[in-house]
Amino acid sequence: MKDYSRPFLLEFPKVGNPSLGFISIAEKEDLPFVPKRIYWTYYTPEDVERGGHSHFDLQQILLAVAGKIEVTTELLNGEKLHFVLDRPNMGLFIPKMCWRTMKYTHNAVQICIASNEYDEKDYIRDYQIFLGEK
Ligand code: TYD
Repeated sequence: MKDYSRPFLLEFPKVGNPSLGFISIAEKEDLPFVPKRIYWTYYTPEDVERGGHSHFDLQQILLAVAGKIEVTTELLNGEKLHFVLDRPNMGLFIPKMCWRTMKYTHNAVQICIASNEYDEKDYIRDYQIFLGEK
């Protein structure tokens, strides 16, 4: 049984070949939650660090559909992980209550598949408050 309390990489099918190009598909059976929202970020300057927050309830899957994203994650048990997303068919599951930061190459396009609608009250944007949730 999969542990949805920790981040993990999810490999999506990659169908095609170099002469035709490729397609990747996220079927609902292969997702850890039913998506309620999809958003994407792009043109992030390379010196900008995004994220810097946790969510009480939201679960997400991040994908670099172009370029490269470096993600650090931290759980309340102190576990810190570092992920490099640089394959369009590779996603990163981010659980609830997980502090994360992201850095992007200039050409990176990030898609986020999210388990809930946008709700600012679901964010913890202060690191000390996050640690206080232990
Ligand atoms: P945020 O989630 O903090 O971005 P990141 O994790 O990439 O650093 O969101 C950035 C801003 O965009 C913030 O002001 C909230 C707003 N926003 C929405 O209005 N709706 C959304 O669905 C998302 C994801 C963000």
